[in-house]
Amino acid sequence: ETQVWRVDPEAVDLEQTPQIKAAAEKLVRGEIVAFPTETVYGLGGNAKLRDSVQKIYEAKGRPSDNPLIVHVANLEQVRALCTEIHPIAKKLIDTFWPGPLTLVLPSRGEVSNAVTAGLPTVAVRMPSHPVARALILASGLPIAAPSANSSGRPSPTRADHVFHDLDGKIAGILDGGETGVGVESTVVDCTTTPITILRPGGISKEKLIEAVGAVADDPGLTRLDQTPKAPGMKYKHYAPEAMMYLVPAGKDRIHELIASQENSGRTIGVLTTEENRDSYPEADAVLVCGKRSKPETVAHHLFDVLRSFDQKKVDVIYSETFSENGIGKAVMNRLSKAAGGRVVD
Ligand code: TXA
Ligand code: MG
Repeated sequence: ETQVWRVDPEAVDLEQTPQIKAAAEKLVRGEIVAFPTETVYGLGGNAKLRDSVQKIYEAKGRPSDNPLIVHVANLEQVRALCTEIHPIAKKLIDTFWPGPLTLVLPSRGEVSNAVTAGLPTVAVRMPSHPVARALILASGLPIAAPSANSSGRPSPTRADHVFHDLDGKIAGILDGGETGVGVESTVVDCTTTPITILRPGGISKEKLIEAVGAVADDPGLTRLDQTPKAPGMKYKHYAPEAMMYLVPAGKDRIHELIASQENSGRTIGVLTTEENRDSYPEADAVLVCGKRSKPETVAHHLFDVLRSFDQKKVDVIYSETFSENGIGKAVMNRLSKAAGGRVVD
């Protein structure tokens, strides 16, 4: 009973397209629908309606202490959500919106408490994807939307990923094809001085520094003894069914590790890149995640590759690692969560 509406993101006049109208109508009636953004697919509901927001948590199986991002299409909607947009936040908005950046701002209490999980702040993002923009405008609502995966699974970058996780649990899916960036938005807390990165994502720290100068990292991102300030960052996430290990030493070490499993009866997968696609003939499944020389292609393919390992039914995955420059920071953050923090020296 989950409807799927195909829609061409290139088509003009999206707000008038029947598929967008149908999805927007569902939102207005309090139902929840999935839609593409430039990062990953989101699962949207009316941010002002407690009942809709509850449906989102239920469909995902998401812990209720993990707040949602509110998606908007214009500045007027932002002003209605927060008590102030100070100059640094304004600078970020002018530089990066619409785009893969989420700002944590002081909340005006306009959205349901369930959206903010009781926090005094609200996370706001203006996506650039034409289908997301059209849906927000057609519904006339601020749309609360976490990534449209079952809680704990890799975020969806294609409509069939959403369908796999949420078929029968949501009213519909707008299928606008593959998303672009492939990892989620960068979440920045604008209530601190300097601003703080709570989750690395589509906009790199380097770019943020270029725009506003000082930028801090949430200590909870790297230190195990600190609770992250973005509640979602403390949960197990992105995990494939197999036991995954990151192998920073690379190829030779991965060969050794595979050899050491020879008599274990376990099937072995390797996560690699174009450059090394033929380097692991002894592995049971070798999945290629973009090109090492083009980090944005690695981000683009990451979640699809993590999901594909489940189909390959491998028991163990050894993964190459990446430089943490630019988008690489988000890639390594997601990989290390997928591996449950397991790193082999
Ligand atoms: O790219 C994205 O951001 C995607 C698309 C759909 O827009 N959305 C997404 O949402 O990744 P979600 O719910 O999977 O991740 C939201 C993150 C969580 O880590 C959550 O804890 C954090 O943002 N967050 C939300 N509101 C917050 C707040 N008021 N203070 C601190 N962290 C917050
Ligand atoms: Mg998520």
